[in-house]
Amino acid sequence: MATTLHPETLALHAGQTPDPATGSRAVPIHQTTSYQFRDTDHATKLFSLQEFGFIYTRLMNPTTDVFERRVSELDGGVGALAVASGQAAISLSLLNIARAGDEIVAADNLYGGTYNLLHYTLPRLGVKVSFVPSNDIEALQKAINPRVKAVFAESIGNPKLDVADLRAIAEVAHAAGVPFVLDNTVSPYLLRPFEHGVDIAVKALGNIAYIIKARVTLLRDLGPALSPFNSFQGPAARDAPLPGCPRSCRAVSSCVVWCCRRPCPRCSSACATA
Ligand SMILES: Cc1ncc(COP(=O)(O)O)c(C=O)c1O
Repeated sequence: MATTLHPETLALHAGQTPDPATGSRAVPIHQTTSYQFRDTDHATKLFSLQEFGFIYTRLMNPTTDVFERRVSELDGGVGALAVASGQAAISLSLLNIARAGDEIVAADNLYGGTYNLLHYTLPRLGVKVSFVPSNDIEALQKAINPRVKAVFAESIGNPKLDVADLRAIAEVAHAAGVPFVLDNTVSPYLLRPFEHGVDIAVKALGNIAYIIKARVTLLRDLGPALSPFNSFQGPAARDAPLPGCPRSCRAVSSCVVWCCRRPCPRCSSACATA
């Protein structure tokens, strides 16, 4: 969603409408599993998805809703689905697209936990994953076939720290008619994935129908829901570091410049980019 607000403002306020009854500035923790329905007709409409509203906390919760809206606005998405861990987010993001008999093409520089999920667990569920060298766009193109349902990469490989060419990867995925799913390993202050051709970002998911499907099938059935208390902690955790991000970036950049001006311990020459 296009926004003119600064990321610092979004980190503090996005997604929250202060409680009209109390005016509470902090996001309230709705530590409830269940919600009252106005009457049976209301319940019927909610459960049949004819009307949006809170049904049960495994599926949606007002505190988690603020977290989801805030993350989505920071990333520039149209909506988000919060789950209990990064692994759960990656699992749901891919299982929401691929089923037994389908394939996924992934970069080969992934975080170890993600590699295990893609290399061992998804094939057990019938989803084959082929790995291509990260940023080898030709290899990616060759790995695409009609059974491939998604392309998966990390924005900055963990731990290799190589930066994905998002635009080039997105072009190959889109030419094949499949989404580019990105594990965005950096802050939205540094990278807003949807501005670079990414369709689904792990941390903020980019399509409303996709999110509803993940919410009412995989989150409902498998249950990796984020607890309301952790949803409360989510915005709080993001509020703190984001405004400090420009200063951290300046500090890192000063360190890099300082290091580059020192003789290289290996070859004794100064860095070419100093
Ligand atoms: C790049 C990356 N993706 C996914 C994960 C998994 O996140 P979680 O530990 O919350 O499941 C991690 C964890 O360190 C990670 O570094």
